[in-house]
Amino acid sequence: MTQIIDGKRIAQEIKDEQKRQAELLREAGKEVALAVIQVGEDPASTVYVNNKKKACAYIGIRSLSYELPEDTSEAELLALIEELNEDDEVNGILVQLPLPPQINADRVIRAISPKKDVDGFHPENVGKLAIGEPGFVSCTPAGIIQLLKRSGIRIEGAHCVIIGRSNIVGKPMALLMLRENATVTVTHSKTKNLKEICREADILIAALGKPQFITSEYVREGAVVIDVGIHRDADNKLCGDVKYDEVSPHTSAITPVPGGVGPMTIAMLMNNCIEAVLM
Ligand code: GUN
Repeated sequence: MTQIIDGKRIAQEIKDEQKRQAELLREAGKEVALAVIQVGEDPASTVYVNNKKKACAYIGIRSLSYELPEDTSEAELLALIEELNEDDEVNGILVQLPLPPQINADRVIRAISPKKDVDGFHPENVGKLAIGEPGFVSCTPAGIIQLLKRSGIRIEGAHCVIIGRSNIVGKPMALLMLRENATVTVTHSKTKNLKEICREADILIAALGKPQFITSEYVREGAVVIDVGIHRDADNKLCGDVKYDEVSPHTSAITPVPGGVGPMTIAMLMNNCIEAVLM
């Protein structure tokens, strides 16, 4: 029997720990506050942003909401970020991605103070992760490490194969896995013999963004499979990058979609907000 990794339960456990931490901080006179900026009304972004605000409310983090119109200029957004950088009452700044085409996301990410960069996207924090210094870490990969550890899965010495090399998931995932002493292979759309490489994985992390791409041919018997994808199938049901029903009987542990990696991303964002107060 495979172990179904319950991200919803583990995220709840973490949020309850955070609630106590936030209480202790408040007693010490420190309030945690996160500024959440959304430009435009992309429906998926609205769902994510609302979930982030709900998590803040649950834990006792103040969330400041900035809903800017779709035609906001880059200069206007940068001016708001500058103001929030200077505001001592704001600990974290989150700009929901994607941004409309007139705004350059890289310039926006660089404009956020690295001390308030709770997404862990600023080059200074990415660099710190690369050289093993403490700093903010991208939330989805950080959440996957917690999922594995809290499910009793050994990372040290394991061969971890990551499919996908994005700045938000694949690359920081590789660095975190190295920090945990895994042997890491990063694969991507140009990789030759992808199936063969994936079949060597003890831990397979699918973050390629293609619905139900990973079939049982990619998975060694008894491997651990982590699914980062989130899509809608032909019946409008949520699904991941992994063909769950076919793959799961061959795994020793697997994350479902929904209820696997997704809830952990928000829990790790909340962690970063609490860390931000202590900086
Ligand atoms: N859009 C999709 N995922 C994320 C995320 O983790 N952070 C931000 N800011 N935007 C996103």
